[in-house]
Amino acid sequence: MEDEMIEELRNFNSYVWLPTRVETQLQIKTEDFKQDRFGARSRLNLIRNTLSGLKVGKVVDLAGHSGYFSLELLDAGTVSESVVYDINDEVLRFGERLAMRMDLQDAIKFVKKDLRLDNIADLPDADLALCLNLIHHAGTLFDRDAVATLGWGKYATQYLSVLRTKYRYAIVGVGFKSRHPASWPVFKPLRPLYFCDIIAKSGWRLIYDANIYDLATFGEEEASGLRTRRSARIRLAQLMSAIVGHRASNAVYDRFRKPHASKLNKYHIFILS
Ligand SMILES: C[S@@+](CC[C@H](N)C(=O)[O-])C[C@H]1O[C@@H](n2cnc3c(N)ncnc32)[C@H](O)[C@@H]1O
Repeated sequence: MEDEMIEELRNFNSYVWLPTRVETQLQIKTEDFKQDRFGARSRLNLIRNTLSGLKVGKVVDLAGHSGYFSLELLDAGTVSESVVYDINDEVLRFGERLAMRMDLQDAIKFVKKDLRLDNIADLPDADLALCLNLIHHAGTLFDRDAVATLGWGKYATQYLSVLRTKYRYAIVGVGFKSRHPASWPVFKPLRPLYFCDIIAKSGWRLIYDANIYDLATFGEEEASGLRTRRSARIRLAQLMSAIVGHRASNAVYDRFRKPHASKLNKYHIFILS
């Protein structure tokens, strides 16, 4: 059983992380399985710390893969129930086995669902919607027509507005990459800032935001709002974007980006209430 699980883990893509308890049981070394890939640990710590100060019982975990975040939050007693949705059956089944192993099977459900703008209103009520690294795929993996028609900015505003009507809190992870989000012509360094406008337009209040590279490198306090403050740097970027246009300025930006600009730099997390 244990060998089987490790073997399966080896074959999965990068988004399977083992909850710490299972990692310890299987005597897995974090580095062996890239257990901290995409800043998973930093994201989890931030989420756990934030939620421990709030009263959150039920969670819906959108595109939650094999439920890493939900399982860890349940295991720590930070939340009491979670429903994990994903389109990929295989990773959901792996999540179910992780839950059994942790004796959490009564607190978590894994449900196969093709999440789209027109069906998220049907999701069950809960206190918190976790929506980590899903919506930047809209326009490429799903909801292609909606994004092509609305543009990603309006699409994301509508998506978050629906979540606003159903949940008290939302934690949204977004990747601001070269081709994602599609149909959103915004100069790269300004994307987190523009996303803050989307948050405000959809009726949410921003409690915390950070770039994942900053979070992993500087810690929660220092990383907070570092890329979204209307600081001199941001104003300069806005000016550059306005003068040369977002396409040209993205090309210039890419050429001069520092080599340390790791993959984590592309990801941002926003905590909303
Ligand atoms: C980048 S992974 C993010 C996983 C996890 N939330 C995290 O942040 O580590 C994206 C996930 O979205 C799922 N997915 C993609 N399109 C989906 C859709 N239309 N409905 C539900 N899940 C979807 C994929 O199967 C995958 O598990």
